[in-house]
Amino acid sequence: ERVALAFSGGLDTTVCVGLLEEEYGYDEVIGVTVDVGQPEEEFEEAEETAEALGVETHVVDAREEFATLCLDSLKANATYQGYPLGTAMARPVIANAILETAIENDCDAVAHGCTGKGNDQLRFEAVWRDSDLDVIAPVRELELTREWEMEYAEDRGLPVQSGNEGDWSIDTNLWSRSVEGADLEKPDYVPPEEIYEWTSAPGEADGTELVEIEFEDGEPVAVDGEEYGAVELIEHLNERAGAYGVGRTDMMEDRMLGLKVRENYEHPAATVLLNAHEALEGLVLTQEEREFKAQVDQQWSKKAYQGLIDAPLVGALEGFIEETQERVTGTVTIKLEGGSARAVGRESEYAAYSEDAASFNTETVEGQGITQKDATGVAKYHGFQGRLANSVIDSVNEG
Ligand code: ARG
Ligand code: SIN
Repeated sequence: ERVALAFSGGLDTTVCVGLLEEEYGYDEVIGVTVDVGQPEEEFEEAEETAEALGVETHVVDAREEFATLCLDSLKANATYQGYPLGTAMARPVIANAILETAIENDCDAVAHGCTGKGNDQLRFEAVWRDSDLDVIAPVRELELTREWEMEYAEDRGLPVQSGNEGDWSIDTNLWSRSVEGADLEKPDYVPPEEIYEWTSAPGEADGTELVEIEFEDGEPVAVDGEEYGAVELIEHLNERAGAYGVGRTDMMEDRMLGLKVRENYEHPAATVLLNAHEALEGLVLTQEEREFKAQVDQQWSKKAYQGLIDAPLVGALEGFIEETQERVTGTVTIKLEGGSARAVGRESEYAAYSEDAASFNTETVEGQGITQKDATGVAKYHGFQGRLANSVIDSVNEG
């Protein structure tokens, strides 16, 4: 019997290799590492760890697919409680790649190293339970703690590389880097600077910089006039905005099971692109479209957070989103400065904007025959119902 394990070389998945043989009786474990833009060292470490464990590993390159999904998510201004969903969106991509590899290699089961407390177990299994393979979750099923895992690894002399002091749990991909666990679990614990790898301390970033992002149908295609592929565009902005300390999120996150968890993220490119995209929508979409779209975006983001982007609802929401994005074509100027990425300029041939109509320096709305004085009637009515209701209430209470 063979099992394909989602393998990162981190503590959880390292421990799972032994347990799948010892506790579950599998004859062979194959490790599958899916590349969604983790740093080079992670693959080297995973490879070293796999060698030490004597497991065969497969690396699947899903960078392009994942980067495209991330850029697509901009159309929905996708965030959950302020977090741009890097881990969440990576999971279905990873789960599918592992399932394919498992089937190609005649595996009978697929396994992950997620805990029974988090979101990732749900996201992986939502994909895997659509197959005939057995689904194994050793950490959850054997009720392992991180302390137990560290001891197990130490006893067996297993190499453990999971960030500083081995106690933070880190998840990195092109779109975001998440750090959690140990002291970081305490909501009042102020994180030390060394948990951050992509962002400089915002207060220490010198000067400012302007970045011009060009969008076509809601998707970023060029930076400062230079065209980029999806992966390169994200990498470029992570580096550039990270130098200004852009994109740190320190939050209480409401997970799917209902648990509140303290999370730390960094995501410079996502912050720049989300701010730019929203600024462009502000220029081209009508007020009612923006209001309604905020609700659609929130629903889209929630499904992405759940790892359920294949749900029929998502396709239906995307029908609306796509319709609006045809006009989200133009350029936004972002100012990078001391931890922020603010839109400071925007232009589009689809701008639902007339300088002539809005300006304080013109008398009429051209072609509409509307003058300033026409607003007088509107001003008279504005708030009328409330004034009437208040006076009725007053007279009833007095009488
Ligand atoms: N809670 C976040 C999410 O559900 C990220 C979890 C990342 N995992 C980690 N081991 N740091 O998307
Ligand atoms: C885990 O619990 O395995 C990681 C965090 C998460 O899934 O949310």
